[in-house]
Formats: sequence, structure tokens, C-alpha cells
Amino acid sequence: MKPWQYLIGGLAVIGIAIQLIPNELPVVETNNPDDLIGSGVVEGEVAGILKSACYDCHSNETKYPWYSYVAPVSWLVAKDIREGREELNFSTWQQYDMMEKLEKLDDIAIEVGEGEMPMKIYTYIHSEAKLTDAQRQLIITWTEATMDVVAEEEETEESVE
Ligand code: HEC
Repeated sequence: MKPWQYLIGGLAVIGIAIQLIPNELPVVETNNPDDLIGSGVVEGEVAGILKSACYDCHSNETKYPWYSYVAPVSWLVAKDIREGREELNFSTWQQYDMMEKLEKLDDIAIEVGEGEMPMKIYTYIHSEAKLTDAQRQLIITWTEATMDVVAEEEETEESVE
């Protein structure tokens, strides 16, 4: 065999061997009564944008494409989704208290405004998740309006007590 044949053979062996390394993709749960969209906190176009650009990493309803099962991509996908859900999980939105909701809405406006989210590695593959300036502005306007609603809800709850 020629040296390059050994090299290709070696790479193929490594490519197969890494498939055997255990890796758990975060589980998918489709029944989420506290979901942001499900409970009507956001509707229409903004809901559609969040669903197509954020829900794969920031909800329990991740849609895994076939290559997300293939190492080493699967390791990166698992890590991003685990960390993404930890930071912000739209599926459990109503379980956040008022301060958490306000903080998260503020963070969303910052991340989306600065173009940090959705992650570049994601929009590179999912071109439909690339946001236009107008879509970014829509999200920011929604976060501002929702922060007012969240703060008001808290006030009414307090006055009832
Ligand atoms: C490919 C997966 C992925 C997608 C898609 C994605 N995110 Fe994230 N997001 C992450 C990960 C991972 C983190 C935690 C690490 C970090 O902050 O970079 C994160 C963090 C965040 C944070 C917390 C940032 C902080 O440091 O306070 C916010 C807010 C956020 N994302 C909003 C969004 C929004 C809004 C969208 C859709 C427009 C979105 N993300 C799309 C993976 C993703």
C-alpha cells in the first residue's frame, strides 16, 4: 500500500471508531404546557421567527437532522443544545419568575440586536434561520412590549394579595 492509502484507511477507522463513543443528544419533549408560544405570550410573525430560528436550541422541541447523529457533529450539537436550554428554555417559559423573565427578555434583545443569536454555525446550515434587520427589530420591539406586560402582571398579582 502507498502511504496515502494508509492515511485514508486510518482516517476511515477513526471515523467509524468515534461513532462508538457514547453521546446523548438532549431528549425531545413535545408536551410543554408552559411553552412561550403555547401559552400565548407571543404570536404571529415573531412567534414564527422564534420557532424557526431559536427553538432547536432553546426549547425541548429540538428537530434533529440526520447528521446530528453522526460524530463528531453530534458532540457539538449535544453541547449547544444542552447549554442553550440551560440559558433559556422557551418550553418552560411560564416557570420562570418575573425577574428571570425580565432578564431573559433583556438578554434576547441584546443577543439578537448584536447579531450574536442565532449562532452563526447554525444559520450557516439552516439558512431559513438567518434574520434580516427588520426581523431583528421585530424581536426587539416584542421583548420591550413583553417586559411591560410581565411587570404589569406582577403588579396586579401583588394588589390582589
Ligand atoms: C445552535 C443553537 C442555538 C440557536 C439556534 C440559538 N441559540 Fe441562543 N444560545 C445557544 C447557546 C449554546 C447559548 C449559551 C452559550 C452562549 O451564550 O453563547 C445561548 C445563549 C443564549 C442567550 C443567553 C445569552 C447570555 O449569555 O446571557 C440568549 C438570550 C439566547 N441564546 C437567545 C437566542 C435567540 C433569541 C435565538 C433565536 C433568534 C437563539 N438564541 C438561537 C445556542 C443557540
